[in-house]
Amino acid sequence: FSCTTPSCLAVPLPADIISTVEFNHTGELLATGDKGGRVVIFQREPESKNAPHSQGEYDVYSTFQSHEPEFDYLKSLEIEEKINKIKWLPQQNAAHSLLSTNDKTIKLWKITERDKRPEGYNLKDEEGKLKDLSTVTSLQVPVLKPMDLMVEVSPRRIFANGHTYHINSISVNSDCETYMSADDLRINLWHLAITDRSFNIVDIKPANMEDLTEVITASEFHPHHCNLFVYSSSKGSLRLCDMRAAALCDKHSKLFEEPEDPSNRSFFSEIISSVSDVKFSHSGRYMLTRDYLTVKVWDLNMEARPIETYQVHDYLRSKLCSLYENDCIFDKFECAWNGSDSVIMTGAYNNFFRMFDRNTKRDVTLEASRESSKPRAVLKPRRVCVGGKRRRDDISVDSLDFTKKILHTAWHPAENIIAIAATNNLYIFQDKVNSDMH
Ligand SMILES: *[C@@H]1O[C@H](CO)[C@@H](O)[C@H](O)[C@H]1NC(C)=O
Ligand SMILES: *[C@@H]1O[C@H](CO)[C@@H](O)[C@H](O)[C@H]1NC(C)=O
Ligand SMILES: *[C@@H]1O[C@H](CO)[C@@H](O)[C@H](O)[C@H]1NC(C)=O
Repeated sequence: FSCTTPSCLAVPLPADIISTVEFNHTGELLATGDKGGRVVIFQREPESKNAPHSQGEYDVYSTFQSHEPEFDYLKSLEIEEKINKIKWLPQQNAAHSLLSTNDKTIKLWKITERDKRPEGYNLKDEEGKLKDLSTVTSLQVPVLKPMDLMVEVSPRRIFANGHTYHINSISVNSDCETYMSADDLRINLWHLAITDRSFNIVDIKPANMEDLTEVITASEFHPHHCNLFVYSSSKGSLRLCDMRAAALCDKHSKLFEEPEDPSNRSFFSEIISSVSDVKFSHSGRYMLTRDYLTVKVWDLNMEARPIETYQVHDYLRSKLCSLYENDCIFDKFECAWNGSDSVIMTGAYNNFFRMFDRNTKRDVTLEASRESSKPRAVLKPRRVCVGGKRRRDDISVDSLDFTKKILHTAWHPAENIIAIAATNNLYIFQDKVNSDMH
């Protein structure tokens, strides 16, 4: 995967650490959420005749404040405004809709465009104030006058009070009418039109919290079968549930778990096997999971072990002790499929991200940096060296910057365009082959 970069969109404000990135279902829109509760939507510009290479440029389309900091007076807890996840709803009319969530509250936003405004009302003036009725002597028909394009964002629904613990995932069902939200111990099913009640579909809270050994880390609906969903756990397992089998899916239909290699057992085994993200393939046949050191591909028809395992940064295996001390071992990296499920992408440290080609078994380490995002620059593969044999341009494990981490990434659903969030910068890379065709 060699990349040229049509655009580098960087808004370096300290409060703007990007916390989620999500393309809409055709890839023309890209939404990011940040630590400050803000959502920024980017739109891909159509190709223009004068600038044939301009296709692929994403420009800011709309910015709005989705969540504000709140205070839970009952529990004396501050509720952060940070956006944990954004999910687009399939477009059903001229408006776009998305769901955004922080730790507790999910909001449905509607995004509409307006390029006309009505003029010539009978009872009110242009500012909307009521006219003195004695001055109204004749009736007129109001007309629509063109104006500059305005993007309006309005909150449609607020789904509050559904979660006691922190929400880690939301996922829209393929029936387009329902969605689910998962926290550390429970998963709820909501109807998109109903805000005051949700159905609890998974509850792993033990009667006695002292017996707690496992939490839910991520959850997603199957892309085609509206009755199926998966959730991952801090113990490295995946549970596939079928809502047709029972209303409360406490008994999963399938449990995917890899037996642990006893020779690798250490104090850190359980921490590094915790699944930080799970994604169904577009085909619906496979699941992709990320844990601290690897990405794994699971076949829905094989529960005993993953069909593929890729090492993301195996050189960190000997550094787990210091990564535990600086808390990095608890970082939650996401993972993504490309549009045809043949390539996998996930983030790492030092602003590096990794790609694995499932067919050729080739892999590459790339870096998201200002330098690599100059127009038409080609991303150079990077290498991390362990031990003595160091080549030019190699970087040694000891000089990796662990504060620069790529946790959130997204792949355009149909093209070789990727979005990478590197703390407060968003990088959009496009495959060279692709842009050369235009
Ligand atoms: C994604 O956004 C584009 C651009 O507005 C729109 O044309 C398209 O219909 C959207 N796709 C879906 C599936 O919502
Ligand atoms: C055990 O560790 C080795 C490297 O030290 C690694 O290659 C292998 O995949 C590990 N096994 C499991 C089951 O994680
Ligand atoms: C996925 O990646 C492969 C390998 O780079 C490429 O051939 C294919 O076109 C990609 N699929 C999409 C839909 O981008």
